[in-house]
Amino acid sequence: MNDSKILLGKTDIQITPLGIGAWSWGDKFFWGFGSGYGDADCKTAFDASVAAGVAFFDTAEIYGSGHSEQLLGQFARQSKQPVVVATKFFPYPWRLRRANFLPALRASLKRTGLERVDLYQIHQTLPPVAIETWCDALGEAVQAGLTRAAGVSNYNADQTRRASDTLARRGVPLASNQVKYSLLDRHIERDGTMQTCRERGVTVIAYSPIEMGLLSGKYTAQNPPRGARGFRYNRRYLEKTQPVIARLREIGAAHGGKTPTQVALNWVICKGAVPIPGAKNARQAEENSGALGWRLTDAEVAALEVASEQAQRA
Ligand SMILES: NC(=O)c1ccc[n+]([C@@H]2O[C@H](COP(=O)([O-])OP(=O)(O)OC[C@H]3O[C@@H](n4cnc5c(N)ncnc54)[C@H](OP(=O)(O)O)[C@@H]3O)[C@@H](O)[C@H]2O)c1
Repeated sequence: MNDSKILLGKTDIQITPLGIGAWSWGDKFFWGFGSGYGDADCKTAFDASVAAGVAFFDTAEIYGSGHSEQLLGQFARQSKQPVVVATKFFPYPWRLRRANFLPALRASLKRTGLERVDLYQIHQTLPPVAIETWCDALGEAVQAGLTRAAGVSNYNADQTRRASDTLARRGVPLASNQVKYSLLDRHIERDGTMQTCRERGVTVIAYSPIEMGLLSGKYTAQNPPRGARGFRYNRRYLEKTQPVIARLREIGAAHGGKTPTQVALNWVICKGAVPIPGAKNARQAEENSGALGWRLTDAEVAALEVASEQAQRA
């Protein structure tokens, strides 16, 4: 299976059909950075990804209060292979004016040490500042050469259309919408977000594509994730998702021993989205990159969706 690069939206930026998310690189509260893994592990995750041909990285100004941007920028600058770097603007409630936008981007550039990023995304909508205000500033950032492309995140169908219309007035395409999407969360298929992105040529970037580690199969009701994830995914949830994991294992075995994680990521790719699984170390990054180079059959995609729907109803 040829996994050649794809274009990010209607831009000329080429990305691998799978990326890596860097939220955990520096985040203590949610991911436990500093206990069990640290800077050196993140570097090995970066190196293992690039070695495997995965060269699209996602971060945000809020991840690890800027530490994730610092690490990713440092790794990207040291990398012998070119990589595509995406980061995000957070519409904090105290950022009330359009004039707050470019300084935030410049601060991200300073932390990464890059002259420009490849993709700058608005992390989510948050009143009171209108979508049009932030998106017009985003278009200005593209025109000023501070980012090569404009993206949004957590935008629904209507918000995606508003963002795309606003950017279009400056002749800038909306390149991407980064949204939660996995076999255990398919809301973007139902609420029209995915369809709108397809119609507008906007790449869907899928975050939490292995449902924060659950689809790897390592967490069960007897072995729940610790910390914040333990509250999000209770025992009952972990129990009802086990049939999905069983199906991932079965299908992976039929593909020469692909792991549940690799099958779950391949499903996202088959649906036309670009998954960006988080990886805390080289082992996870290597395993995740094994989602490339092969494809599920249509029948396997359908079988996984039956299991996913049964889990939703359970
Ligand atoms: N735009 C947004 O609002 C938003 C929100 C969330 C995430 N994101 C982006 O999306 C990226 C990915 O999402 P995510 O980190 O929430 O969830 P995810 O990719 O579904 O899960 C990542 C976690 O799963 C575990 N893991 C990763 N690879 C594994 C493997 N091969 N085997 C076993 N466990 C593995 C690791 O945690 P453990 O080892 O601790 O289990 C890792 O931190 C983030 O890094 C971020 O860039 C964006």
